[in-house]
Amino acid sequence: MSKIKPSKGAPYARILGVGGYRPTRVVPNEVILEKIDSSDEWIRSRSGIETRHWAGPEETVAAMSVEASGKALADAGIDASQIGAVVVSTVSHFSQTPAIATEIADRLGTDRAAAFDISAGCAGFGYGLTLAKGLVVEGSAEYVLVIGVERLSDLTDLEDRATAFLFGDGAGAVVVGPSPEPAIGPTIWGSEGDKAETIKQTIPWDRFRSGDVSGLPLDSEGNVKFPAITQEGQAVFRWAVFEMAKVAQQALDAAGISPDDLDVFIPHQANVRIIDSMVKTLKLPEHVTVARDIRTTGNTSAASIPLAMERLLATGDAKSGDTALVIGFGAGLVYAATVVTLP
Ligand SMILES: CC(C)(COP(=O)(O)OP(=O)(O)OC[C@H]1O[C@@H](n2cnc3c(N)ncnc32)[C@H](O)[C@@H]1OP(=O)(O)O)[C@@H](O)C(=O)NCCC(=O)NCCS
Repeated sequence: MSKIKPSKGAPYARILGVGGYRPTRVVPNEVILEKIDSSDEWIRSRSGIETRHWAGPEETVAAMSVEASGKALADAGIDASQIGAVVVSTVSHFSQTPAIATEIADRLGTDRAAAFDISAGCAGFGYGLTLAKGLVVEGSAEYVLVIGVERLSDLTDLEDRATAFLFGDGAGAVVVGPSPEPAIGPTIWGSEGDKAETIKQTIPWDRFRSGDVSGLPLDSEGNVKFPAITQEGQAVFRWAVFEMAKVAQQALDAAGISPDDLDVFIPHQANVRIIDSMVKTLKLPEHVTVARDIRTTGNTSAASIPLAMERLLATGDAKSGDTALVIGFGAGLVYAATVVTLP
């Protein structure tokens, strides 16, 4: 028989507060058009994007995370010293080690909180939220900070017309803590590694360093271009439209609610046409508020869902206590969907 005492956590977990940080520089489509053959009309109609934010030198992954987290902590009414774990989802922190989460935990003034990074692309927020819920319910942390943060402008090839207009920078954070009732539903998540090639870094770091330029994209001076995110847009688009609506429906079923019970839908902000298609397939009623933050934020990968959540609450389009379906999907390919009560 085991001699180990059972761990004691909260009966349930909920999102207690949310915060976002958008870099000060707003980049309209006109700036993107300086380097690619396209048009404002094409970018707006095919992606929904009108402007995005690009981070300046001071707006580092850590700095944006600290800003967003400070707002999330204030929104939750929680002091940084109460945070037991900091989970950071990002693909654009440029040091292999240590995790950026430890620096963020320190700068926020946590009391030596556990801190680690995860790499789950545009599903990163959902992955982090699922971990946070587990930690709170299992008892390893009373409060967990989940941060989605990206500086995708560092990983964008501005001469690639398939991706140059898509990505933006920013950070979104939530505080997850104890709840007397269920407020984060079961997560429907998974991976499809057989489709890993559809969204990837153009060149792995070791190949970039090797100087072997055969078959690699070169700049105007013949140097290998800095690694960037590349994707098979149409393949990803089709996968998102057909497969992710099913995953979203499964998350509703798992939470035991119907589209009629929903107040808000916050999908990953990848393309407004993907969002519209999911709304149609899920037959979401008129009263459901749909996040279309992509118009002014672009695709900020792991940051997109908390950023959209924060804006809906700030503008009054959604309110505390609303029931929201969130779904993230992207590089891996990976996905995660769940139903949450808004903070
Ligand atoms: C990237 C994306 C907006 C492109 O839209 P699309 O409708 O699939 O565009 P296509 O690649 O099929 O190209 C359609 C046409 O527009 C042209 N085109 C491509 N990029 C263009 C651009 N930037 N400006 C103008 N025309 C462009 C193509 O050459 C093609 O022309 P053709 O019909 O004469 O051959 C879309 O595929 C998408 O959003 N994919 C998913 C993105 C995503 O979710 N990523 C996940 C990351 S999490």
